[in-house]
Amino acid sequence: MLWLGIESSCDETAIALVKTVAGKNMVMADLCITQAPLHKPFGGIVPEYAVREHSKNLPLLLQNMIRSKSLNLKEVQAIAVTEGPGLMASLLVGNAFARGLALGLGIPVFGVNHLEGHLFSPFIGREEKLKFPFLGLVVSGGHTLLAKVEGPRQYSMIGSTIDDAAGEAFDKVARLLGLSYPGGPEIEKQAERGNPHSHSFPISLIEKNNYNFSFSGLKTAVKYFIEKNKESLSKKEFLADVCASFQESVARVIQEKTIAAAKSFSLSLIAASGGVLANKRIRELLEKKAHEEGIEVLFAKRQFCTDNAVMIAFVGALFYALGLPITKSFELNPNFSLSDFKTQANTNRF
Ligand code: KG4
Ligand code: ZN
Repeated sequence: MLWLGIESSCDETAIALVKTVAGKNMVMADLCITQAPLHKPFGGIVPEYAVREHSKNLPLLLQNMIRSKSLNLKEVQAIAVTEGPGLMASLLVGNAFARGLALGLGIPVFGVNHLEGHLFSPFIGREEKLKFPFLGLVVSGGHTLLAKVEGPRQYSMIGSTIDDAAGEAFDKVARLLGLSYPGGPEIEKQAERGNPHSHSFPISLIEKNNYNFSFSGLKTAVKYFIEKNKESLSKKEFLADVCASFQESVARVIQEKTIAAAKSFSLSLIAASGGVLANKRIRELLEKKAHEEGIEVLFAKRQFCTDNAVMIAFVGALFYALGLPITKSFELNPNFSLSDFKTQANTNRF
């Protein structure tokens, strides 16, 4: 079975091909155009520009894929498309494109929650590692969450951010430091030359036995610190030290919360994904503590950490193989949460 994946929920326009052969889902194509340079001057995403770019880039990417893979579109048997969460207008572009294609080709469409795309992305190319239940950790620009995954569309939320997502904190701190958008990779680059213990920023763990995250206190602490030390910002070492210390605080929070949740819910496998988990120091600290506790951590490969369409096609292919039929109806939902699968009694809403 050949799946076409389409992702357009935020500022990446992506399409991918995943082929199921003898029970294995193989990545046949992975194309993405990021809009980061376009949104850079604004320090965040401008929805109007995002929509224009998606509309322009989706047909371009498809043409490229057809040419580079000598693909005959008629070979595609199903489409998986992100139906939320994300920017409503961006979601609409991807869904209209998917629906139009599906109609023309006479094939079905499978709506995928963007977060479940991230949740299962660590298993791309390593399905043999997939065993339920596992602890899903997603740390991205829009979300920071921990969920117990007991099966496809059987998610129990364990914790999420009560204010800023970790990626958002990276982006905002980067902006305060005069670094460009997206801030995560910029801060990581600076942090490589810095001392993570030069400044002690808060490590917000809230209460024990509470797995929610909070990053706004940390962001504010960095903001005040920068305001107090404005004249030092031009010094390279100072900038590197602030970046390293901020990154260390985020890494420690993620490490502590995730391992505590895994222990408390007796989950011996953590599947970790999302843009922020492309960060080497955050991966390193989590891996270290998990190892000490005898817990396995499977990180999404770096190219699948940030938004991509492979994870969307992969969820379609994987769930179909696990016996979930393909949906006929779909609802776009910019606030689509993982808990909605339970509350709408739509674990099998196909
Ligand atoms: O998963 P993603 O591509 O998009 C969302 O679904 O949000 O995540 C984007 C976020 C941005 O906030 C970006 O600054 C952050 O991931 N990010 C990083 C790194 N690479 C991307 N944060 C820390 N370190 C990185 N290396
Ligand atoms: Zn994402």
